[in-house]
Amino acid sequence: MKDTENGYGGVSILLHWLAAITMIALFLLGQAAEDAADSKRKTLLGLHISIAISMYLILVGRIGWRLYNGRPRVLIEQSQPLTLLAQWVPIILLAGLALMLLSGPIMVWSKGYSINVFGMINLPSPLGKMETLHEVMEALHKVGAKILFFSFILHMLGVLKHLIIDRDNTLKRMLAPSKKFSEK
Ligand code: HEM
Repeated sequence: MKDTENGYGGVSILLHWLAAITMIALFLLGQAAEDAADSKRKTLLGLHISIAISMYLILVGRIGWRLYNGRPRVLIEQSQPLTLLAQWVPIILLAGLALMLLSGPIMVWSKGYSINVFGMINLPSPLGKMETLHEVMEALHKVGAKILFFSFILHMLGVLKHLIIDRDNTLKRMLAPSKKFSEK
């Protein structure tokens, strides 16, 4: 279950893929809602918002587990620019995610709407209608979506580089608890 020096345990792997799938689903749902006709837009946005609120739990789980567990060591030495990129891409991904999770609820609340989670939990607006704040948050949500998209592409390129050029276990150790894997 726990991470070791050489790789990730079951909890880290589960949280990573849960976060990845949820983020991709949110991205696609948000985009589809933007392009949809009014009647469909409401349903898609309702789903987008309900799933997005669940994302907070996944995020808290990930941060808590990382703080408790530390981090497996990096598999290979790389040039300085690549090391910097490998350090910064996950930070930019998290910053993009934080921007989405902050701007989303404020965008809804500043329109005067409450946030409804799967028809079960209702979070009324503590703000009331604030049109300018709504527009700023809407713009930030769009910028955050672009930051997430480009950092996701960089993340994928990094995975491909490890897989094709370095041929190391970077991807493998995020697919299965990796006590048994060696470095190469
Ligand atoms: C990881 C978290 C999230 C991701 C990846 C995400 C992604 C997106 C995307 C891609 C769009 C379409 C933006 C565009 O290009 O026009 C969008 C729109 C929207 N999102 Fe999110 N979102 C997230 C979190 C949230 C949260 C937490 C809320 C609210 C609780 C929310 C509420 C909305 C709303 C209301 C819109 C429609 C905005 C408009 O009318 O222009 N989102 N989201």
